Amino acid sequence: MEQPKVLIVDLGSQYTLVIGRTIRELGFRTVIFSPQRAEKWLATNQPKAIILSGGSASVYEENAPLVPLAILSAGVPILGICYGMQLLARILGGEVTPHRGNKEYGEAIVSFNSKDELFLNMEGDNVVWASHGDSVTKLPIGFKAIAHSKESNNISAMSYPEKKMWGIQFHPEVTHTDRGKAILWRFLTVIGSCENDWEPKNAIAEIQNEVGQIANGNKFIIGFSGGVDSSTLSAILSPVLGRNLLAVLINTGALRMNEVEEIRANAKSANVRLKVINASSRFQKGIGNTTHAEVKRKRFKKVYGRILEESARDFGANYIVQGSLATDIIESGKVGKAALIKSHHNVGLNLSVNELHPFRNIFKYEVRDLARALKLPAFISERQPFPGPGLFLRIRGKPPRPDKLAITRWADEKVTQILRKHKIYDDISQLIVGLNCTKAVGIKGDARVYGYVVEVRAVKTSDFMTARGCHFSDEVEAEICSVITKHPKVVHVAFYPTNKPPATTEFE
Ligand code: XMP
Repeated sequence: MEQPKVLIVDLGSQYTLVIGRTIRELGFRTVIFSPQRAEKWLATNQPKAIILSGGSASVYEENAPLVPLAILSAGVPILGICYGMQLLARILGGEVTPHRGNKEYGEAIVSFNSKDELFLNMEGDNVVWASHGDSVTKLPIGFKAIAHSKESNNISAMSYPEKKMWGIQFHPEVTHTDRGKAILWRFLTVIGSCENDWEPKNAIAEIQNEVGQIANGNKFIIGFSGGVDSSTLSAILSPVLGRNLLAVLINTGALRMNEVEEIRANAKSANVRLKVINASSRFQKGIGNTTHAEVKRKRFKKVYGRILEESARDFGANYIVQGSLATDIIESGKVGKAALIKSHHNVGLNLSVNELHPFRNIFKYEVRDLARALKLPAFISERQPFPGPGLFLRIRGKPPRPDKLAITRWADEKVTQILRKHKIYDDISQLIVGLNCTKAVGIKGDARVYGYVVEVRAVKTSDFMTARGCHFSDEVEAEICSVITKHPKVVHVAFYPTNKPPATTEFE
């Protein structure tokens, strides 16, 4: 298979994988490597364009990521984004200065030099998305400023076309940046002469190829939640691995109503054998009395990892495959120096068996594309995500014991039914129904009741990196309140339409 022509050097940004995804959307294959691996890869490969990602460090910090000179002198067009631009400026003799009290964070208005090759004909003001504490204040010799921020007059982009180097201070890869995709497209095609070499369904052959190379009679188990990720991955791998692949569903006791039956049906559609392991009491014991989100996640992860290892041993497998996505890996702080947002249950398990994460670079909506390309049924390709720690993460204020899980499961089913009836469910990306156990006062049958609050949250998003909270109509909210407070232990219902960020999709 031809090697990708776009090299992305990861300097530790939460958005590095988003750069890769946006470039795939434009139709180009990419590789993403740390600076050291990128240098090695460059010794035997010939990319046509190199992108230096953003990063959370300041160029003056000790241990801040650096770019080896071999990358800068490869003679290939280079685009530094955010920290990538600051690093270019610093290495080449310019100056980078911290903002004093006026960090640019969020939307900024920028005017481009519409004569520069990167911004050709892009006249007028542009809304861009920026997130930085430092700025380039003196350009390295030979560079010209090619964009300025309207408010602060900071240098927003620089170029030295004869040296094939560009830097932009804002993020072209996020959808909030007007013309972001057009800028990347110009860099790759006009400046880098890249040609389209990627369509989403190529990922199927790439993954089959990657795993096929190590198949070799080995046995594999796959952690199977029945969601779009694990079902699609199983459907991709089953033709390669056949009976050497076993899907394992761990019933944690925190699944939704009738979920085990649905998961069985999904395994059938994905053409994979399924083993169900009932492990409710092990999870109850493992999670114990904690109410702390991260502690819960870490304890959950420990039990989950142990059961996966046992299942691998029982099946004689030397590989454990997981459907973890780019978002899971980013939020677990496992991309470069990206900050830990939350510990996802299937990332960084450090198992004694080899782990494979073939979806590690791709995003949810890309997996849905693959599921559609594989002609999996809509109840798989369009299925809402439901994280492994499931209802355990949706009970706040008290340990997630079976009685609380039962109320949450019941409420989740009722809200789902109402949203389906009103034809809302299929339009939202994820519904979260939780139980807040900090009790509130209510009245039932003329008596005072001290009960729980059911929390209802729904979001719309394509990639779960950012999301919009949904607002329901008065009629729908009234119906949800009326049905849910019929439960003797529930007195209030609360709706949470906060966007991500600042909220996350789940409460914990
Ligand atoms: P957050 O809450 O971080 O969630 O905005 C983004 C998406 O990831 C799901 N999620 C998880 N999925 N294991 C998973 O497989 C996890 O530990 C986990 N935590 C959150 C979340 O439900 C949403 O779809």
